[in-house]
Amino acid sequence: MEGETSMAEILRSSSVGLIIRQKEPNNLETPFDQIDSFLTPTQLFYIRSHFSAPKLDLASYQLRIDGAVRKPFSLSHKELRDMPSETRVAILECAGNSRVFLVPQARGAQWELGAVGNAEWTGVPLTALLERAGVEEDACEIVLEGADQGTVAEEPVPPDPISYARSLPRDKAMQPEVLIAYQMNGADLSQDHGYPVRAIVPGQYGMASVKWLTHIHLVREPFRGYWQTSDYAYWDHLDGKPVRRALGQMKVKSEISRPSVYEILGANQVYTIFGAAWAGETEVTEIAVSTDGGQTWAEAQFLDPIQRHAWRRWKFDWLTPKKPGRYTLIARAKGADGSVQPDKHDPNYGSYVINHPLPIEVFVDGPRGTLV
Ligand code: MTE
Repeated sequence: MEGETSMAEILRSSSVGLIIRQKEPNNLETPFDQIDSFLTPTQLFYIRSHFSAPKLDLASYQLRIDGAVRKPFSLSHKELRDMPSETRVAILECAGNSRVFLVPQARGAQWELGAVGNAEWTGVPLTALLERAGVEEDACEIVLEGADQGTVAEEPVPPDPISYARSLPRDKAMQPEVLIAYQMNGADLSQDHGYPVRAIVPGQYGMASVKWLTHIHLVREPFRGYWQTSDYAYWDHLDGKPVRRALGQMKVKSEISRPSVYEILGANQVYTIFGAAWAGETEVTEIAVSTDGGQTWAEAQFLDPIQRHAWRRWKFDWLTPKKPGRYTLIARAKGADGSVQPDKHDPNYGSYVINHPLPIEVFVDGPRGTLV
């Protein structure tokens, strides 16, 4: 669609159906208990924005590719759309998803289970643009920059307003799955999801998929921008010393979508527990479920086939106990590469990468409603 963003598009991205974590900038969460399809419907897909969504005009939109390349160039929206495109399914999970489960409570939006979604994205492979630009031998990273700008709230505050920019290692940027996307679930991107053009970096936490993309800049030195040093970074160790590194690949994780927390279930009946699981650069091959807080485990059944970078929904039929009470449900995923969800959150990740099994407490009620 050419021209201005239509009212229908704006409405499609409004907060109806989403849980509000923050208004302006929009930070809206998917009600995860409503997930019952492989693709998350766009109107239920979470929104995570650090600054107000910029209004970009299609007629003047340009994507600039420069830096360590032989032939820098700019591309109009039409030129981008005229290039051969690909459509891929990819998960986006915000690195802060499930932050509400951290104890003690961590600073930042208190995301529950729904800062994650699985969508179909259409666009031009980044490799096609890089090929046309002719990447110099010594280019080590590709910086993706959005048109949104502002002042950050958390210390240390950079001296001037900054844009949202993040780099990808050259190796990842050269993978065929990385898209410069203009459609989500078969329709043009909504304003909140990056209209008119965004990056989609399957396998990495959502922060890598830069929205409102206007600039692709190849650099010869590792990029040390705010969004990968101060924020969206973690502590690693080098020769026994702590070093700060940019967050990247998603870790294996599963979440229970139904029942929801504190839901009351009938005693002694089959209740089907539903959930979804995903990983970064591997496939989820096993889900174990515990209905007694982790004492015993049983295998769940997958509802979706293996597909790299997409989630797999799963289910588990639970014969609820005869005894009324409070029960803790947990799911744990395993990846084909042997990775397993860890028992505890790793504090080196601060308030990010919350991929330990998340307990969902429910009540089992007696026949005459003894609990309520
Ligand atoms: N791109 C820009 N330009 N500005 C942003 O604030 N947020 C990032 C990423 N891309 C962001 C951005 C984060 S933290 C996430 S999790 C995803 O966008 C969320 O994408 P969505 O809002 O389409 O779900």
